[in-house]
Amino acid sequence: MATICVVGTGYVGLVTGTCLADLGNRVTCVDIIAEKIERLKKGELPIYEPELEEIVGRNVSAGRLHFTTSYREGLNNADFVFIAVNTPSTDSLGGADMSYVENAARSIAQELDHYTIIINKSTMPVGSGDVVKRIIRANLSRPDVRFAVVSNPEFLREGSAIQDFRSPDRVVLGSSDKEAARKVATLYLPLRAPIVITDLYTAEMIKYASNAFLATKISFINEIAQICERLDADVKEVAAGMGYDKRIGRAFLDAGLGYGGSCFPKDVRALAYMAEEAGLHPQLLHAVMEINDDQRRLVSDRLTTILGPLRGCTIGVLGLAFKPDTDDMREAPSIDIIRQATDQGAYARVYDPVAMTTGCEALKREGVRMEQVQFCQGAYEVAESADALVLVTEWHEFKSLNMREIRTIMRRPVVIDGRNFFEAGELNRLGFIYCGIGRGASLPPAMLPDRDWASSQSLVDA
Ligand code: UGA
Repeated sequence: MATICVVGTGYVGLVTGTCLADLGNRVTCVDIIAEKIERLKKGELPIYEPELEEIVGRNVSAGRLHFTTSYREGLNNADFVFIAVNTPSTDSLGGADMSYVENAARSIAQELDHYTIIINKSTMPVGSGDVVKRIIRANLSRPDVRFAVVSNPEFLREGSAIQDFRSPDRVVLGSSDKEAARKVATLYLPLRAPIVITDLYTAEMIKYASNAFLATKISFINEIAQICERLDADVKEVAAGMGYDKRIGRAFLDAGLGYGGSCFPKDVRALAYMAEEAGLHPQLLHAVMEINDDQRRLVSDRLTTILGPLRGCTIGVLGLAFKPDTDDMREAPSIDIIRQATDQGAYARVYDPVAMTTGCEALKREGVRMEQVQFCQGAYEVAESADALVLVTEWHEFKSLNMREIRTIMRRPVVIDGRNFFEAGELNRLGFIYCGIGRGASLPPAMLPDRDWASSQSLVDA
């Protein structure tokens, strides 16, 4: 079993370190934020990820998983060092802030005293492996020490990261030192996944190309959704029909409010930026981003079409996190939706099963008018006296909502389903004005401001 150091205890670092320990390795996670390390030592996790807390606890108890702020302690006898720190966008154009990676590389170099393989796990612009190599070489406190750099991009999804680590579709390793790449491959052998060994730049590119392709699938189906609405087709069934074709596949064809999170928006921007820096004109990537931005405006447009001016209206928002099973608010559509409604004078009543704290912080950070936002205890409180209910995040618990009851407590029976989560027919039967994304046939015949609300009330009573 190997001795491993993981630098960075964010999403990627914590999941990777914990899962490698769970495979029997001895893992030390290093982070420069002392408070985070103190909390981790007590078993308190900085993020919400299903199963993670239990696996961290189990491996700490077994003596395989350690946390420290000291690079020296982390690198002591380490065979492998994973760099898993943040690489945020520097600007809206897509440049990547490499300062955390550079600092990590310098700190590693100062403590290296034996041959070690350094593995880039964070998503870094193509060519970063060479940058890391140069920084380490320039900062070695013992210049005779040998090392190798391998790129090993991560493909974990938030919310199912543990599962994704344990059964990856593939493991990608890139290096000019194939022997080092093969040694890293031994860490993953128990997972029985295909292992791709290639050069450094190609491995880095595989990561960007994969995320950009998935984002493209999402923007593609969102464009199809727009067309479906005009032509009275249902995008859910279109996606299902397309998905049977093995060349297409059903995954990532859910039309909705567009992609968010810490990866797709940043990585598509970064890839377009790299292409432009190289003198190219990445038109497809720009279209993908433009369509995604447009999806963020759909809810506000629909609300005003159905309700008229939003001033004084109460909009119930179900879900804040950028997707279910996480409390991550980075680039979450909920932020834009709440901002657009409150800017027009509406009140927002919001609830998320886990992202209430992170949601509140994110809305404040993004300058949303907090005096118009009310945080509720649950979905029913959100719906009370609301003029419309907007489903933003498809949390499983919203499946069991009693929509008949919701219908009776709302002021006006309007549901904007941003994830095509509810059964359109059932909501229509209950008297809701239901509006999904790309479901032409189920669009309310009266997406009209002067709809007769009283008569839809009587539908429910019938
Ligand atoms: C994504 C990739 O799926 C991972 O493989 C990758 O490792 C990760 O980025 C990363 O680069 O770190 P993640 O951002 O956690 O993972 O979440 P996804 O499940 O991929 O969803 C991304 C966004 O796309 C979400 O906002 C989701 O709501 C949206 N989405 C997804 C759709 O709108 N439609 C779909 O059909 C699928």
